[in-house]
Amino acid sequence: AIERTFSIIKPDATKRNLTGKINSIIEGAGLRIVAQKRIRMTREQAETFYAVHKERPFFGELVDFMISEPVVVQVLEGENAIAKYREAMGATNPANAAPGTIRKEHALSVGENSVHGSDAPETAAIEIAQFFAGNEIVG
Ligand code: CMP
Repeated sequence: AIERTFSIIKPDATKRNLTGKINSIIEGAGLRIVAQKRIRMTREQAETFYAVHKERPFFGELVDFMISEPVVVQVLEGENAIAKYREAMGATNPANAAPGTIRKEHALSVGENSVHGSDAPETAAIEIAQFFAGNEIVG
């Protein structure tokens, strides 16, 4: 089925001017970028977005990282977009990511891992709604 997923190009990647290279991998995987904006996340937005990880030891570090530089938030659309994007991203830890994936090619570490992608349709809908109004998504 045609799905939508939520993507973030993270601070380690925007800082190194990798937005275009990452978008090229996204489009090469058959996904369409149907919404995109560059923003500086507020602390409140980052804490809300990662609320599920609040009890993790790396939560503070994760929030500080996400607000340290601009990010690019995106909505990606395509056949099985959620699984397709997770495959294009590669494993969370770039050391375990397959060749050609965004994280293998560009990520620095498990924290500075260049991109986020939704893990399920329910979370995709919640994440998209946190950052985009319906009329900002143009399929
Ligand atoms: P993401 O898909 O954005 O969702 C949760 C994030 O937590 C994950 O990507 C990682 O970047 C981050 N993360 C996971 N494990 C660690 C860790 N041990 N240290 C710092 N960040 C982590």
